[in-house]
Amino acid sequence: MLTFQDIQKHPKILEFINQSEIALKALDYTEHGLRHAKLVAREAKNLAKQINLSERGQDLAAIAGFCHDMGNFLGRSQHHYWGALLFHQIFSAKGESASGEKNDFTPKELVWIMQAISNHDKDTMKLTEPISAIVVLADKSDVHRSRVTVESMEKIKNDIHDRVNYAVTMSDLKVNSVKKQIILTLKIDRNFVPVIEFFEIFTERMTYCRQAANYLGYKFHLVINNFKLL
Ligand SMILES: [Fe+2]
Ligand SMILES: [Fe+2]
Repeated sequence: MLTFQDIQKHPKILEFINQSEIALKALDYTEHGLRHAKLVAREAKNLAKQINLSERGQDLAAIAGFCHDMGNFLGRSQHHYWGALLFHQIFSAKGESASGEKNDFTPKELVWIMQAISNHDKDTMKLTEPISAIVVLADKSDVHRSRVTVESMEKIKNDIHDRVNYAVTMSDLKVNSVKKQIILTLKIDRNFVPVIEFFEIFTERMTYCRQAANYLGYKFHLVINNFKLL
């Protein structure tokens, strides 16, 4: 049985993530490389644990989180589909016996991981299993100054995505299982960006987060600079 420990060392997956980072850097996108993959994997595992998914469920959430952006080297606009299909291609046949007993992942696990990868960036998102919802929350909450890849302050100021990411100096995702809340807390440097600009960029993301939290039976809350906005 393959675990997250195996996946994070898998040469093809690491190369896909590496090439995706190069491709998106060339387009001046925010960071989508190993830092983002590791962070989303860690947050996904954490969330899965806190909402009481099984140990295997936690590992699958980490795997999907780690791989969710690896399709970007094939093209940005459909990267969620590329990523899901690449994952299937790597793992569907390896180790398969005639009876199908020795797969690295069971067919259902493969489906869950593929769905979580393809759902994370789809505007027709339809959640039918918890791993997808967990990856949406882990991914969409990764907003931080360290994701801005362009070096010139002039360029950062001229791009609203960079400006908003650059303004976030702290980002923290927590679960309150007693109150059934998933809370994203951000600290924004308001000298850099007014809170309204944050919403201009992140309304869609926050809607995904709310849907994902609701699917898991939780309420999503957003706190910016100690103000509860959602
Ligand atoms: Fe993505
Ligand atoms: Fe992502």
